[in-house]
Amino acid sequence: MKAAVLHHYGEQLRIEHVELEPPRKGEVRVKMKAAGICHSDLHVVNAHLPLPVPIVLGHEGAGVVDAVGEGVMSVKAGDHVVLNWVPSCGTCYYCQIGRPDMCDEAAKLTAMGTMPDGTTRFSLGGKPVYQFLSIGTFSEYTVVPERAAIPIRADVPFELAALVGCSVMTGVGAVIKTAKVEPGSTVAVIGAGGVGFNVIQGAALSGAKQIIAIDIVPEKLAMTKKFGATHTINAGEEDVVSAVLDLTDGHGVDYAFEAIGRPETMAEAYNITRKTGTTVIVGIAAPNENVAVNAFSLPSQSKTLTGSWLGQGNPPVDYPKLLDLYAAGKLQLEPLVSQIYSLDQINEGFEALKAGKNIRGVIRF
Ligand code: APR
Ligand code: ZN
Ligand code: ZN
Repeated sequence: MKAAVLHHYGEQLRIEHVELEPPRKGEVRVKMKAAGICHSDLHVVNAHLPLPVPIVLGHEGAGVVDAVGEGVMSVKAGDHVVLNWVPSCGTCYYCQIGRPDMCDEAAKLTAMGTMPDGTTRFSLGGKPVYQFLSIGTFSEYTVVPERAAIPIRADVPFELAALVGCSVMTGVGAVIKTAKVEPGSTVAVIGAGGVGFNVIQGAALSGAKQIIAIDIVPEKLAMTKKFGATHTINAGEEDVVSAVLDLTDGHGVDYAFEAIGRPETMAEAYNITRKTGTTVIVGIAAPNENVAVNAFSLPSQSKTLTGSWLGQGNPPVDYPKLLDLYAAGKLQLEPLVSQIYSLDQINEGFEALKAGKNIRGVIRF
């Protein structure tokens, strides 16, 4: 079967005929139908997230269960699934306290690029090929841990369902689960990409009265209005902090979100948050980077600076819920898909992502 493989950092992905071992005990084989191209995949290509290579990237995807290994109870062949890149263990401290997004076992998998047992199901010429976040969705088929295959309703097109597995959960979850934005709040988001657009629609869903979208691509800023943005700021032309202060009577916003992954814009998000407000970092910076915030402001302005990983999601519960919200007309998914690619065109999708062209580019298998 075909898969897109990253052999060396900084290079294009290569479409290869990769071998796939059948699912072992507690594993599920999925025939991929759609996979979104997310900035976190690009973070690996750029070596911002250093992982072992060769690797099959991709962590936002949906497909159909094709075969299950021994003991699998939660899905069966034919089920539609969204893949889950935080397959929590259910037994560690964080799982026990109801924070599966912080699962210690899933965090280990992030760094390993393997299945929980340390091996991979992909191989090339007899040598292992790693799988991003234990899934690796840029392949015609993949084998994943049972916890990574979340059964969903069968009436949502795969290219829309795929988005729920990263950008929608991450953006909407940051607003409703991490920040818990209340009706009437003021909100700003720096970075209107796949994740940022979902912060915007999460804020609209929460009844925010003012939603300020900040980006450097005018076409994307114009589209944010469709998702509920009330104001836009072009960070390439205006000073973000003064523009936000101007729009908020000099106070700043109740909730600011950073959805890019750069320390400078993370500090900016903190600086546009009002006294006692909350800054949520959603973008992922390289592990060796730090954010500079004014030390005196920490006590004197009493802001909350926090982060959100996969929107604090609990996939088995939240993915079906997000898809129900879509079916009820309360979440928009169609306009998030800017471009459909074939697997062979995947590098075009990465180029568009680098250029900030798409909200989401999605591969259809
Ligand atoms: N100021 C404002 N916007 C910017 C700036 C800047 N200095 N630099 C880039 N942007 C915008 C881009 O134009 C783009 O629209 O940030 C957006 C980033 O969006 P995507 O590239 O689509 O990234 P996305 O997939 O949404 O991920 C965002 O969240 O999950 C993490 O790893 C992910 O760190 C990444 C972040
Ligand atoms: Zn992602
Ligand atoms: Zn756990």
